[in-house]
Amino acid sequence: MQGFGRVSTRPSRPDASHHIVAHPSGWVSEAKVMNPVELLNYGNKHLGEKKLSDARVLLEYCLKLKPSEFYFSEKIIKTCKKNSYQKLLDKRKNGLPTAYITGETEFMGIKFYVNKNVFIPRQETENLVEEALKLIRFAHPRINSGATTTRHSLLAILDIGTGCGNIAISLAKYLPNAKIVATDISKNTLKVAMKNAKLNNVSDRITFLQSDLFQSFPTCPLPTYDLIISNPPYIKNSEIKKLQKEIQHEPKIAIDGGKDGLNFYKKIVPMSRKLLKKNGFLMFEIGYHHLQKIKKIMETEKFRNIKVVNDYSQQERVIYGQNSN
Ligand SMILES: C[S@@+](CC[C@H](N)C(=O)[O-])C[C@H]1O[C@@H](n2cnc3c(N)ncnc32)[C@H](O)[C@@H]1O
Repeated sequence: MQGFGRVSTRPSRPDASHHIVAHPSGWVSEAKVMNPVELLNYGNKHLGEKKLSDARVLLEYCLKLKPSEFYFSEKIIKTCKKNSYQKLLDKRKNGLPTAYITGETEFMGIKFYVNKNVFIPRQETENLVEEALKLIRFAHPRINSGATTTRHSLLAILDIGTGCGNIAISLAKYLPNAKIVATDISKNTLKVAMKNAKLNNVSDRITFLQSDLFQSFPTCPLPTYDLIISNPPYIKNSEIKKLQKEIQHEPKIAIDGGKDGLNFYKKIVPMSRKLLKKNGFLMFEIGYHHLQKIKKIMETEKFRNIKVVNDYSQQERVIYGQNSN
């Protein structure tokens, strides 16, 4: 049947007493069995090829199934009787990101609660966190110039524009000796980040601070941090409207990098020079085509050992350098 996948040739499962049924216009009635796999086939067709994993995530969410239970659950069909899967698919089809529908996403193998007040963590940003972990794990003795520094001494990290807290919380989780200050301009965003820190048991090592960049910082900053990390807004404002409809649902403040997309780099780099300890690292996620300009900004501020890391699709994604002060 068009639009609902193949009609099942399988015998109905023994306890699937309520059945979901294909209906040409809408969705459910109770006559013909659809098992989870058939529902998924329907979802996949409904959303189209590019969103196959979304159909699956939404179905698991709808049926309250863990991925591992997907092929084995018997009672699940009942819970999806009220057209709920169809409604989720429609929301997704209209451009609402899956993470806003389910209220959660995964980043660095950790679950994060999200809502419309926060930017949805992207897989590319895992490159930033992975590079930070590599630097700290393997270069930590060199981050602080002081001879007393050991691999196990306390690390001070600043995450600027923390969003749902994904960078700060992942670093806290994977670096038990890290103490982190995580800032954001948005109070509602910080509420979500705080909730995530609590859910992940790292609240005691992260201080959340509402601040428009460095405005709430002391006027005479001391070199406090071993690492300053940020995935700032970096889309040129003229380009925002041209982006996919999914992105239009996210907070504009989280993506708008000003006229050239570089507003935040221009402000964060000079101030980082003052806030970083000698040899401390400044690390950014960067956007398409921004590399040379950001490198120049960092060189002008005397950052040295500047390195660039590509993401899995071979785009230049991460830049970092060391404070020479
Ligand atoms: C691209 S999002 C990154 C969120 C998260 N760190 C991540 O990597 O997924 C940028 C974040 O910067 C925050 N932001 C925007 N303007 C800011 C400002 N002037 N000061 C501090 N944070 C700001 C936004 O609220 C948003 O959470």
